[in-house]
Amino acid sequence: MAKLPESFIDNLLSRIDLVEIIGTRVPLKKQGKDYSARCPFHDERSPSFTVSPSKQFYYCFGCGAKGTAISFLMNYDRLTFMDAVEDLAKRAGIEIPKDARPADTDGSRDMYAALEASSQFFQKQLAASDKAKSYLERRGVDAKSIAAFGIGYAPEGFNGLIDALGSDERRRGLLEKTGMLSKSDNGRLYDKFRARIMFPIADRRGRVIAFGGRVLEKDDGPKYLNSPETPLFHKGRELYGLWQVKQAHNKIPRLIVVEGYMDVVSLFQHGITQAVATLGTATTPDHAELLFRNSADVVFCFDGDKAGRAAAWKAVESILPRMRDGRQAFFLFLPEGEDPDTIVKTEGADGFEQRVNGAMTLSDYFFEELSKDVRLNTLEGKARLAEKVKPYLQKMPDGAFRDLMTERLQSVTGVLGAPTTEAPKPASAAGISPKRSLVRAVITLLLQQPVLGREVEPPFAFADLDLPGIGLMVALMETLHARPDISTALLLEAFEAHADYPALQKLALTDMPGDETIWRQEFLDAIAQLNRQARQQRLSVLRQRMAQSGLSLEETEELRDLLKPN
Ligand code: UTP
Ligand code: MN
Repeated sequence: MAKLPESFIDNLLSRIDLVEIIGTRVPLKKQGKDYSARCPFHDERSPSFTVSPSKQFYYCFGCGAKGTAISFLMNYDRLTFMDAVEDLAKRAGIEIPKDARPADTDGSRDMYAALEASSQFFQKQLAASDKAKSYLERRGVDAKSIAAFGIGYAPEGFNGLIDALGSDERRRGLLEKTGMLSKSDNGRLYDKFRARIMFPIADRRGRVIAFGGRVLEKDDGPKYLNSPETPLFHKGRELYGLWQVKQAHNKIPRLIVVEGYMDVVSLFQHGITQAVATLGTATTPDHAELLFRNSADVVFCFDGDKAGRAAAWKAVESILPRMRDGRQAFFLFLPEGEDPDTIVKTEGADGFEQRVNGAMTLSDYFFEELSKDVRLNTLEGKARLAEKVKPYLQKMPDGAFRDLMTERLQSVTGVLGAPTTEAPKPASAAGISPKRSLVRAVITLLLQQPVLGREVEPPFAFADLDLPGIGLMVALMETLHARPDISTALLLEAFEAHADYPALQKLALTDMPGDETIWRQEFLDAIAQLNRQARQQRLSVLRQRMAQSGLSLEETEELRDLLKPN
């Protein structure tokens, strides 16, 4: 390709607002005349990534990433140099010099053209087929949606497309290479898609790269047929509908991942213009990255059946290693037999959105799923849960979310999760360092005076606290309720296999000042204070959720109860 003149690039970059380009992808904070953020190119907790509007330049003190809007798009959106330039030129409304356009060295331009021509052909066929049109009508797809998604129809018979577009060997070769044709045993080429509603799949720049085709009649082969992998199409890296979503939003507030083509189209038509679908595959790590690069909040929506649950867990495995700070994932399970298409038709956009707002957080879903066949009221169960959780924690990027998950594991099991950076000290092995003195005090008191455990009845509000050592404290309380007459010695013995046993032993040997009356009062005060903290913690979770995505009915109730003066 002829090289782009430097003057062209200079002119292009001078007309682009780098802060806007980066700001729609990474949350930026103004700091003096520059902007800062946590670097999108490496994991970090405090922002060392800076964008300078005056210099139209970004750089990161942490990892050394730096450059212009072009290099940002190349690295962040994973575009080629030329694609990044084309994107920016389009944005700035300037033409790329003709002789500087890249030569079609890999033949991809011809392939895009063949796919675009196929898409046009299918759209014309749809307009000409009453059968196909009435099918879409029956399913409630209106003309606007058909146009927005370029939906078409592949005619019956074996030669519709090949006759229309495969007039010579070169053109047939292109159709074959792009996955539009099949080959019989005796080497004859014929249309791969026949008598199917055709959904073109667009790449991140809106070019058709593949198709999904749905049968009209039940017994006509597999319900959906997708293009095979081709040089232009890798299904594990593409999301159906993403192009349309990007056209509808400058900044996508949140993405909803659904399972089917029809779900995306139907939601879009009902005004929910933020849904994308994987292409008949599980969510891959590439999908996860693509999703989060387009929106910090992603809601995964699945059928409530067994297959849906399995698919959801696949998604969890793909996204956990991508959960950098600032990203949030949610899981929504629909009633069996329903999908987003049927829900939005019966409950409307409001109904569907309400469900989305009530979706489970990733951490809730994660712990619920892993706790399923574990008896958490036993020490063995806790240990097993910890074993199951640890490998996932280790795969997560360092950051606040991993801390939260680690603390949660600790609070459920009393066992430390991922390796911490601090060297373990005997007392903090239990998470009961002086800093966490309330929990430590309660544990110490229980060890001195096991009968105190009976003063507080379950359910324990404090059990939900994200405090290190809480899990151990709850485990002690549970043991004391199950064995009301237990002595300190036997209590210790019951926890002999526990990771925090050495710390417990030490606390049991502490000489406490005061007497039984004072200890009882201290114990009750500490519990009351922890319960207040639990209430505050829950309040702040609900308030934050209310601000971000709204509350479900039950949560609204709960919030009202929590706010009642008691
Ligand atoms: P569904 O069967 O749930 O699709 O499959 P749907 O979109 O709800 O279909 P309608 O409403 O009956 O038209 C979900 C997705 O799984 C892939 C497709 O990507 C489909 O959209 N799939 C399904 C296939 O690839 N092949 C199949 O035979 C079926
Ligand atoms: Mn469906």
